[in-house]
Amino acid sequence: MDISLKVFRYNPEAGRTKPAYDTYLLNGVDPTDRILDLLEEVKDYHDGTLSFRRSCAHGVCGSDAMRINGVNRLACKALVQDLNSNSITVEPILGLKVIKDLIVDMKPFFDSYKSVMPFMINDDIPEDGKERLQSIADRERFDDTTKCILCAACTTSCPTFWSDDKYVGPAAIVNAHRFIFDTRDQAAEERLNILNDESGVFRCRTAFNCTEACPREIHVTQAVAEVKQAIVSGVIK
Ligand code: SF4
Ligand code: F3S
Ligand code: FES
Repeated sequence: MDISLKVFRYNPEAGRTKPAYDTYLLNGVDPTDRILDLLEEVKDYHDGTLSFRRSCAHGVCGSDAMRINGVNRLACKALVQDLNSNSITVEPILGLKVIKDLIVDMKPFFDSYKSVMPFMINDDIPEDGKERLQSIADRERFDDTTKCILCAACTTSCPTFWSDDKYVGPAAIVNAHRFIFDTRDQAAEERLNILNDESGVFRCRTAFNCTEACPREIHVTQAVAEVKQAIVSGVIK
């Protein structure tokens, strides 16, 4: 099949100071080709200056989230046949500054992530000196939020984040959730205090865009709601 691929372009260092779109006609595309394959074809055969992030090409590294026909997706997981159209538009994710073409500045996103202390905190040494045991039920409590690959598809699809880039965003909350509900961690209260400030969880208006955007099918809005509930009730369960 033939595909018309319209790609957002911006490259101030090379004189493209105004955002614009370039369109490439790609012939012989297979319906099972991924959008990442189309971008690689453009880069290899049409315009080597096209810039985008990607690494694993298998939905694991989280580096190639972009807006594809208006929806946040991973370019390496979205198939041409999923889009039901011969016209495909690819743009950078929203709410973060565009550096070049499809590449955005991820620093504010990772600053928010770091602000919730996304790592295990436990100063006690187990008596037997071995690992900290946990029941299967305790592990299941936060199993869903361990799946995050930090692609930013959720945060950059959130209307609250679009209007206020100080909002910590659903990805940071998901990664706080992963430790708040881990029985081996000792810093849940500290994280809940961080998320209870004016840029925290209560800025969420339950729009659900984050859940729809997540390529790992994490129940993002539910995780946000559970963190809100823990703050309101003072109970972590
Ligand atoms: Fe990406 Fe999902 Fe993690 Fe958000 S919660 S950063 S959409 S993997
Ligand atoms: Fe935003 Fe998700 Fe809440 S899209 S408003 S964080 S439910
Ligand atoms: Fe790694 Fe797509 S390239 S998730």
